[in-house]
Amino acid sequence: MVQWTDFERTTIQDIFSKIDYESVGHQALTRCLVVYPWTQRYFSKFGNLYNAAAILGNPKVAAHGLTVMRGLEKAVKNMDNIKSTYADLSVLHSEQLHVDPQNFRLLADCITIVVASVLGANFTAEVQAALQKFLAVIVSALGKQYY
Ligand code: HEM
Repeated sequence: MVQWTDFERTTIQDIFSKIDYESVGHQALTRCLVVYPWTQRYFSKFGNLYNAAAILGNPKVAAHGLTVMRGLEKAVKNMDNIKSTYADLSVLHSEQLHVDPQNFRLLADCITIVVASVLGANFTAEVQAALQKFLAVIVSALGKQYY
């Protein structure tokens, strides 16, 4: 089981209580689709992902960004049980969606960058480390079904 320090727990809860899920999810998913264009292949039913402006303006991307953030919120509320909390999501992403698990880390990095831009000076090195640890646990839990 993953061990969390009090600082890490408080920091993760604090970040997720402060950020706007809609905006962070939208920006992070947009960034992922633009910077790592091969991730677009999983979202063909989202319609126009032709260029960065189209991706940013695509309401399905915005809606799905929010879905991802709500998924993360479940992990925030179950920090001691992230693997079991994510069991079904891991099956979905591997067996139904066939998402290459390398992509989880790419989206996690985009989330880190967007959260950093929102928190500004409050995004200290310690806060960054806590968020990256949390997201690494998410990435590992989502990838569980693959190994
Ligand atoms: C669906 C979370 C990474 C592709 C979902 C859903 C959630 C979620 C909560 C909705 C599940 C449901 O409807 O029951 C996450 C989280 C991620 C992540 C927390 C990592 C931080 C990725 C990545 C890709 C991806 C990297 C592809 C590059 C998809 C697709 C769907 C989906 C295609 C279905 C969308 C739809 O049919 O509307 N994800 N996901 N996910 N995810 Fe992920």
